[in-house]
Amino acid sequence: MKILSIETSCDETALAVVLCTGGLTNPSFKVEKNLVSSQINIHRPFGGVVPNLAKREHLKSLPLIFEKILKFYPDLKNIDTVSVTVGPGLEPALWTGINFAKFIGNIYKKPVLGGNHLEGHLYSSLLSHKEKVKLPAVALIVSGGHTMILKMDKLSTWKKIGETKDDAVGEAFDKVARLLGLPYPGGPEVEKLAKHGNENAVSFPRPMLTHKNYDFSFSGLKTAVLYYLRDNPMPTGRQAKTKKADVAASFQKAAVDVLVKKTLRAADEFGAKTIILGGGVAANKYLKNHLSKEAKRAGVKFIVPKGEFNTDNAAMIATSSYINHLKKKKYRLIAQANLNM
Ligand code: KG4
Ligand code: ZN
Repeated sequence: MKILSIETSCDETALAVVLCTGGLTNPSFKVEKNLVSSQINIHRPFGGVVPNLAKREHLKSLPLIFEKILKFYPDLKNIDTVSVTVGPGLEPALWTGINFAKFIGNIYKKPVLGGNHLEGHLYSSLLSHKEKVKLPAVALIVSGGHTMILKMDKLSTWKKIGETKDDAVGEAFDKVARLLGLPYPGGPEVEKLAKHGNENAVSFPRPMLTHKNYDFSFSGLKTAVLYYLRDNPMPTGRQAKTKKADVAASFQKAAVDVLVKKTLRAADEFGAKTIILGGGVAANKYLKNHLSKEAKRAGVKFIVPKGEFNTDNAAMIATSSYINHLKKKKYRLIAQANLNM
């Protein structure tokens, strides 16, 4: 099944063409086109995503990116199905993609499938990982809106065993970035700055690390950074940069420490043969390196999406739509802002 997929849940307008083959135990994906138009520069002055601006930009970008797709697939030749993110995400932004998908489905007489953004993140490593995934697996999904651990006995079924009780880890990175005066989106900026800092400079708390469950809490960690900055005034000049880098590195270490330790504990408890990482924060090399090292130490295979498939993209939506199609599960083609796993 060749899928033209569309993603507009937040601030990236994305279209992709993915050839999906295989069954539920061994699905295989070949990305033929993966186009993303980022709205970062539009939202940056506001320090975060403005839903109505996102909607306006999606409306502008969708036809432009679709035109590019048509150059390669005139009349959507060879495309079997259109698929689109129905949630979770910003409602006005989701509707732009859904309406566009229905429109081209109508014009070109193609069926339209819904896709779940979180499942997309869960399966995005399969876009570049070609071997069969060894099961059972434990998955860590880390994005701007979600942080969760899943236990998977099959690739197509999972059980959520823990999630954040307040802020998502990506949100914590973004908020700490703002406290440090770094531009939106803050995650990559914190990572960049942290490279120049001493990760042991400040001992930030590891929220819920010792709790026996697999839940997280990142709001307290962000507040600890806020109080630290309030109580330790920034020096001036070059020293300020060093101090900020120390805070960034110490915060990143605390956040990653909790994510890695809880994931490894889940892998151990459930006898996981694979740890799967997904979501925008999976772009963070410090997290990837630590999780990879610890997985290796525990004798567990570690898989993570290739660069461009970490942050929001449309290719990952095709994985969700295809697997649901095989499962005979259908998402309604309406915006489902709070859709979960
Ligand atoms: O998955 P994603 O692109 O969008 C959502 O579904 O939320 O994730 C975006 C989040 C943002 O919070 C962003 O700051 C974070 O992922 N992020 C990072 C990095 N790259 C993106 N966080 C830490 N380090 C990074 N390198
Ligand atoms: Zn996402």
